[in-house]
Amino acid sequence: MTDVAIVGAGYVGVPLAQVFAEAGRSVLLVERDAERVAQLNRGESYIEDVSSEVLKRLVDEQRLRATTDYDELRDADAILIALPTPLSKQREPDLSIVKAATEEIAKRLRKGHLVVLESTTYPGTTREELLPRLEASGLKVGEDFNLAFSPERVDPGREDWTTKNVPKVVGGITEACTDRAAELYGSAVDTVHRVTSPESAELTKLLENIFRSVNIALVNELAQLCERMKIDFWEVVEAAATKPFGFMSFKPGPGLGGHCIPIDPFYLTWKAREYDFYTEFIELAGKVNENMPYHCRSLISQALNHGKQRSLKGSQVLVLGVAYKPGISDMRESPALKLIELLQAAGAEISYHDPHVSELPELGLASVPLEPERFDCIAIVTDHAGIDYQALVDDGAVIVDFRNATGEKGRLSDKVWKL
Ligand SMILES: NC(=O)c1ccc[n+]([C@@H]2O[C@H](COP(=O)([O-])OP(=O)(O)OC[C@H]3O[C@@H](n4cnc5c(N)ncnc54)[C@H](O)[C@@H]3O)[C@@H](O)[C@H]2O)c1
Repeated sequence: MTDVAIVGAGYVGVPLAQVFAEAGRSVLLVERDAERVAQLNRGESYIEDVSSEVLKRLVDEQRLRATTDYDELRDADAILIALPTPLSKQREPDLSIVKAATEEIAKRLRKGHLVVLESTTYPGTTREELLPRLEASGLKVGEDFNLAFSPERVDPGREDWTTKNVPKVVGGITEACTDRAAELYGSAVDTVHRVTSPESAELTKLLENIFRSVNIALVNELAQLCERMKIDFWEVVEAAATKPFGFMSFKPGPGLGGHCIPIDPFYLTWKAREYDFYTEFIELAGKVNENMPYHCRSLISQALNHGKQRSLKGSQVLVLGVAYKPGISDMRESPALKLIELLQAAGAEISYHDPHVSELPELGLASVPLEPERFDCIAIVTDHAGIDYQALVDDGAVIVDFRNATGEKGRLSDKVWKL
């Protein structure tokens, strides 16, 4: 018998499995990818937030295992869904993976099951998409089985706030559903915050991500203005952050990355249209943020002009850091990909160095040693720790720093161009 089955063993599913297993629950990860299942069952973690040491211990103690077999869901008390919710090419919600998995779950649904959707999505998904599919089994929600939404708020790579200590928001279809889900999470995470419906829980997660997207767009726009005004915007952000209240610090950058911030807000934009409503802040933020790789290409071009009297075409450019944020290998939606594509299209010869990402097969590139003298320009796209940025400046390379990794003061020094 399994206490908790988690469908989808990715960035969300594996840390969640760890938290439940550490709380003494027996956990089953149901994963489509047989290679991942084999790795998990050998105690080898491919998710940086969960160490192989911890995973191996939990597997050896028979508290956690993985399978590709949906039939094993029949024996679980609770089924948590942590599957991808991407956008289509037209930037519309693509719930196909979640819907297909729900249909598979419905075939195995039995009395007493608790089903919780953790994937980020628009308000209404749990009620409109999951509920009818599950009730097609003949079982009734609130009576035979329970259904709720509880967003995952994990920030991969972060150590102070984890799946265990970030409060878990829970909203069920019925009060009994909320009770049941709150009880389950309460047995493993530090704090549970109940809301009165799955829609509130769904929108909570979107509000958090929209808040980030809009604020990042604000600083990205001001950073571009500051380039014209020759003001060091990083210095401004740092100074504003000394205000003890009423200001929250966001930093500009080469564009949004990761599975969440560039994607999730558009789930709401799409749903809002059903209500004749246009989410203009979201659209505007998307527009500003999506333009950032283009702006960064322009800065690299200017730095080459001024620093080397060269054009982009034919120049050797090293992209330093390609993961979407420091300390991790996650490449999803990384702005480095767009920037590399733009630089290559302009005729630049691109290499990259990233201690966390050994190769980029989609671009036919592999991480090269950090040998600054080989390059006309170094573009710092992701500020991983463990790189001596000051040494790069001292070496005299032409540097374009999109993360303020060098900490150089002033808008432009001879050597360092900053966003
Ligand atoms: N990554 C984050 O930082 C984060 C944070 C909060 C919320 N979320 C949300 O959580 C959800 C999951 O995201 P993630 O980052 O864990 O995704 P992920 O891609 O890391 O993991 C998803 C896993 O599901 C597996 N899978 C795909 N289809 C399957 C199927 N039909 N049956 C079983 N397994 C299947 C994949 O092989 C993969 O291992 C998304 O909605 C995401 O928006 C992600």
